[in-house]
Amino acid sequence: MNFEKTILITGGAGFIGSHVVRRFVTRYPGCRVVNADKLTYAGNLENLADIEKHDNYSFEKIDIVDKQAVTGLFKKYRFDGVIHLAAESHVDRSISAPDEFVMTNIIGTVNLLNAALNAWKDNFSNKLFYHISTDEVYGSLGDNGLFTEETAYDPKSPYSASKASSDHLVRAYSHTFGIPVVVSNCSNNYGPNQFPEKLIPLAINNIRNKKPVPVYGRGENVRDWLYVEDHAAAIDLIYHSGRRGETYNIGSNNEWKNIDLIRLLCRIMDRRMNREPGESEKLITFVKDRPGHDLRYAIDSSKLQNELGWKPIPDFGKGLEMTVDWYLTNSKWLENVISGEYEKYYDSMYSGR
Ligand code: NAD
Ligand code: DAU
Repeated sequence: MNFEKTILITGGAGFIGSHVVRRFVTRYPGCRVVNADKLTYAGNLENLADIEKHDNYSFEKIDIVDKQAVTGLFKKYRFDGVIHLAAESHVDRSISAPDEFVMTNIIGTVNLLNAALNAWKDNFSNKLFYHISTDEVYGSLGDNGLFTEETAYDPKSPYSASKASSDHLVRAYSHTFGIPVVVSNCSNNYGPNQFPEKLIPLAINNIRNKKPVPVYGRGENVRDWLYVEDHAAAIDLIYHSGRRGETYNIGSNNEWKNIDLIRLLCRIMDRRMNREPGESEKLITFVKDRPGHDLRYAIDSSKLQNELGWKPIPDFGKGLEMTVDWYLTNSKWLENVISGEYEKYYDSMYSGR
């Protein structure tokens, strides 16, 4: 089959990546989407079962740290664009084992940049390397203020330092070698298919099983939550219409203290599980804080909204209910990912905390 374009999406078997792959495969049938993923504990092809037979979708099992494999991938396909999501993404894991974050997030990104540069250097027109990053590179806010695209980088965890490093490399390759790039920095995502090591799916799973819900410190830390499909829509817009060389912040003005968010989740779970009001809240357990825990993230996304007309869904309560319903309906998915490895991770992270 002849395709108008071929796009490489890295990390497409993960949480956000799978929503991006589905969106591109179904909305752009003339575009071939190649999903390259190592399938770490966080990557799961079940996330893409509904689109895996589409003619314009292919999967390549690849570790982006493996330079030869990445070079081979760029020889096998003539990519017009790259949307780079593959990463180690969990802050707690970056504290207990930082090395993997340096390898995948920094070295993996350099391997992709080198391969793209080599493939495109004779003609950069209509090519794009789109790097997906996080608001955590900006560090931590006090009670006031928002992260803008001009906020100076100040990463505080091994995860955010590795992402900041990859952002700098992407911009440096653009500045030095002329490779067309765009970068976006997004706030906390939630929604279907998120691995249950992250706060919202972990809490849903624990409440479902009447297990303690661990809240770090006093639950005073603030995050700005965005529904994952809004992120995928923003990525689509930025890929197709974002100005080359620019950075776009993505977030939905939806700040929640962790403890308030968990209480809201408990109320939804009480209704869904036919429990007495207040029953799930009894599971909340305050545990030892995350070392170096960033206090507050909040995003100013006015550039994206004004320039490209992006709008997130307005109702967080509804998004959270849709997420709870997805996890309760897809308990098989949840059981499959809560394997032996997850149990070991959970014990080492939470026992004695
Ligand atoms: P995730 O952990 O759910 O998925 C990461 C994917 O990358 C997995 O499929 C995994 O198998 C793959 N991967 C990991 N190491 C790899 C390697 N060496 N080679 C090839 N593939 C590899 O992550 P996510 O939450 O979907 O995040 C995706 C991207 O978005 C990341 O770059 C992350 O930094 C960024 N981001 C995430 C959030 C969030 O709230 N989750 C917010 C902003 C930005
Ligand atoms: O801001 C974007 C980032 O959001 C992404 O770049 C990261 O990939 C993503 O993991 C996320 O990072 P956080 O550290 O904010 O997400 P996490 O779900 O791990 O934690 C959210 C908040 O909840 C944070 O303040 C820590 C707290 N927490 C987390 C867990 C797992 C708890 O209180 N208890 C928990 O068990």
